Amino acid sequence: MSNFGNYEDRIKNFSWLISEQELGYQPGQPINIGWYCSDRVCQQGKGDKTALIWEGFGGEKKVYSYNDLRLYSNAFARFLTDSGIKAGDRVCLFMDRIPELYIGFVGILKTGAIAQPLFSAFGEDSLFVRLENAQTTAIFTQKKHVSKVRKIKDKLPHLKHIFIVDYDGKNPLQDREKAFSMEGLGGVEDYDVYPTYAESPSVLHYTSGTTGMPKGVQHVHYSLISQYLTAKWVLDLRDDDIYWCTADPGWVTGTSYGIIAPFALGVTQCVLDSGFSAEAWYRFIEKNKVTVWYSAPTAIRSLMKAGDEIIKKFDLSSLRHLASVGEPLNPEAVNWSIRVFNKPFHDTYWQTETGCILITNFPGMPVKPGSMGRAFPGITATVLNPNNHEPYPQPGRIGLIGIKPGWPSMMRGYWKNEEAYKNKFRNGWYLTGDRARLDGDGYFWFVGRDDDIINTGGHLVSPFEVESALLEHLAVAESAVVSKPDPINMEVVKAFVTLKPGHTPSKDMELDIMNFIRKKLSPLAMPQEIEFVDTLPKTRSGKIMRRILHAKEWGEEAGDTSTLENE
Ligand code: WTA
Repeated sequence: MSNFGNYEDRIKNFSWLISEQELGYQPGQPINIGWYCSDRVCQQGKGDKTALIWEGFGGEKKVYSYNDLRLYSNAFARFLTDSGIKAGDRVCLFMDRIPELYIGFVGILKTGAIAQPLFSAFGEDSLFVRLENAQTTAIFTQKKHVSKVRKIKDKLPHLKHIFIVDYDGKNPLQDREKAFSMEGLGGVEDYDVYPTYAESPSVLHYTSGTTGMPKGVQHVHYSLISQYLTAKWVLDLRDDDIYWCTADPGWVTGTSYGIIAPFALGVTQCVLDSGFSAEAWYRFIEKNKVTVWYSAPTAIRSLMKAGDEIIKKFDLSSLRHLASVGEPLNPEAVNWSIRVFNKPFHDTYWQTETGCILITNFPGMPVKPGSMGRAFPGITATVLNPNNHEPYPQPGRIGLIGIKPGWPSMMRGYWKNEEAYKNKFRNGWYLTGDRARLDGDGYFWFVGRDDDIINTGGHLVSPFEVESALLEHLAVAESAVVSKPDPINMEVVKAFVTLKPGHTPSKDMELDIMNFIRKKLSPLAMPQEIEFVDTLPKTRSGKIMRRILHAKEWGEEAGDTSTLENE
């Protein structure tokens, strides 16, 4: 029997009070995620239980108990407080998946400051716009990434502290830089956790927009109420589980379900800080006896590609429950997992903005391969008619996924962008920006995004951000960025480019531009193909029509092109 039990019973009796009571939270009293993730678990007598099993790139291993997590997160918190960091300040984590990332996140929240995790593969431009927008006060980083911070710090007057967690004394520290060694300092026994309340800000995650620069999604400490219960019921986490979430905490899955929920549940989780390889992944599951595995369709498709033979080399019988997030989970992937693991991947649908899983195939409920499943209790989800933003009276029609606002981990705003936030609501519904269809059993079937954002391997990339960066290349005159189909990543970035006079298209030019974007933005945002063209399709008012280029890539009808200038 799963933690979730029966859908109809759960819906009938549901209230978020269930979660509040399990967590011992009293409305109006302080609630601090950092405390829930460490001190409370120790108070429950689980101080000696393993919180984190970490394996590095070269196979090195570290293990931390809940008591270690408490002492070291206190060390982070004390260090920040002593450095003058105050509640509400933004503190960035810009690191690979090393233990300091997980423990530092908990430590930052204990001080009342806002944790701002950023993907460590970001180049200096991606890093800059996010630190500038958030007016970040301090950043934790590693030696290997500090050069990117150094390149932009003069343009960031708010950034007062650059903390290096693995400083070895070999090169001198520069202005504003300081070494911080979590284990070197040892644990701190007593730290007075800052009394944050339900609506105190907790985490700031940047996500891509279609038209503007990335938006900072603002979450609060009360989000724990949703994250805790969804992890318990959807991921089916139990006290004796060994849980592996493959997501990087630079993205929301890696914080909501890679730090907050498993630690608050007092579960043992493991982290593998290395790139993808089917062999390494299977070995990791075998070695750690992983029971619950939360991953993503691109990884699953990569495992499928590696073939079934390799699976036979490993004992994967510890696996009890599998779940997936981030992109459409194709039915072939579900059927494959039933065949090779003897259990399906359970799809989960949600967003940075929603903070927790909204729609899912629940454990114990029949999975319809290709469907995202049903709404979580307490979540009112529907498919809206795009013309009037009313729910369709009957299931079966394709429309916009709309959610009734008000669940605990709903974003509280976009950082300094009230207008973009307001624009997400129509007729009393929060618009996810995705299109889907509902069937007669209440299952949602994902259709696609309702905007130009590219979802490559589960990572959202803004065409606008890539186009802006392309224009900074000295040979590029104009650009348009769309997705193109890809068998593994589902879609990848493709750029159409016109060159300035004096520059000619060539393979070298293509590679040069690709490299330029990889360094400035990230490997994810780097176009996998650049097509040099003489002109780009534009409207009469001069706006580039990505729609036409997108349709061409996907072999679809372009729709109405009557306003095109150059046709
Ligand atoms: C997409 C990730 C299909 C969707 C947690 C959504 C999905 C965006 C699924 C959010 C799914 C997420 N099936 N598409 N199960 N889950 N998406 O903010 O377009 O990085 O709006 O949050 O990913 O991506 P984000």
